[in-house]
Amino acid sequence: MKIGKAVFPVGGLGKRFFPITRAVPKEMLGIIDKPLIHYAFEEAVAAGVEEFIFVTRQGKNSIEDYFDYISSHSEYFNVKTGSVCYVRQNEPLGLGHAVLCAKNLIGKEPFAVISADDFMLHEKSCLGEMMERYEGANMVASVSVDRSEVNRYGILEIESETEDLIRAKSVCEKPSIEEAKSSSAIVGRYLLSHEIFDVLARLNPGVGGEIQLTDALSEMIPYCGLTGFKFKGKRFDCGSKEGLLAAILHVADRDEKLRCVAENFCRGKR
Ligand code: UTP
Repeated sequence: MKIGKAVFPVGGLGKRFFPITRAVPKEMLGIIDKPLIHYAFEEAVAAGVEEFIFVTRQGKNSIEDYFDYISSHSEYFNVKTGSVCYVRQNEPLGLGHAVLCAKNLIGKEPFAVISADDFMLHEKSCLGEMMERYEGANMVASVSVDRSEVNRYGILEIESETEDLIRAKSVCEKPSIEEAKSSSAIVGRYLLSHEIFDVLARLNPGVGGEIQLTDALSEMIPYCGLTGFKFKGKRFDCGSKEGLLAAILHVADRDEKLRCVAENFCRGKR
C-alpha cells in the first residue's frame, strides 16, 4: 500500500551526545558529508512519500535551514514546493507525544514515522519494503538484538512469524533482560493507522516518564494487531556514540579514498 505522508520526529534532546547536541540537533550529526536526517529523508523519497512533516523544537532550526537548501537544489531531491512542513513539540515528552503533535497534518489516512537516528541501509528503502507488505493497522521495523540490549528497545512477543514478518502477541518498552519475551526489537520505522492518535492522546507517561509510542501500539493489539517487518539490511543506532562511529566507518569503507584513510589509521594503531 502506498503511503503519502511521513513524520520525522526530531524533537528529542539527544542527551547521549551532550554537549554537542546543546547547539547541534542530533539529526544534523554528519555521516561524512550528509547529516543523518538527509539519509532518512532519502529513504522516504525512495519509498514514494510525497509529504514530509518534521516535528521539531527549540534549537532545531538548522534542520529547517538544511531542507530549505536541499529542497531548492534538484540535484539532491526533486520534491514539490510546499511538501515539507514543520510542527513544534513544545516539550520533549517522548516519541509518542512527538507523533501526536503531527495529528492535524495527517487526517484519516495511514502514515509513516521515521527516526533519523536509526540509520538503515539496504538495496531497497526499508520504508518502501514495509509499504509493499502493509495491509493496514500498525507495522514496525524490527531487528534481532543481543539479549543484553533488550532493555534499550521496544520488544515484540512473537505469536507467529514468516521469513519477512512477525505477528506480535504483545510488545513491551524497555523490558528487563529477564522479562523480555524475545530479542526482536522495534527500530525507528513505523507505518501507522491514524487511529493511533486517539490512543496517544489519552496515554499516561510510561517508561522514563515519557509518552511512549510502544504503549499505544500495545494498547491497539487486541483490536488491530501489530506486524513486525524483519529488516535484513545494515542498521546503526546513531543515537549512541558507538553506533554513529560505526556508521561513519561503514560509509567511509564504501569510498576508495576514505577507506585508505581508515585503513591507514587502523594500521598505525596496531
Ligand atoms: P530517543 O529515545 O533517542 O531520545 O528518541 P533523544 O532525546 O533523541 O536522545 P537521548 O536518549 O536523550 O540521547 C528517539 C526518537 O524520538 C525523537 C528523537 O528526536 C528521536 O528521533 N523524540 C524523542 C522526539 O521527537 N521527541 C521527544 O520528546 C523524544
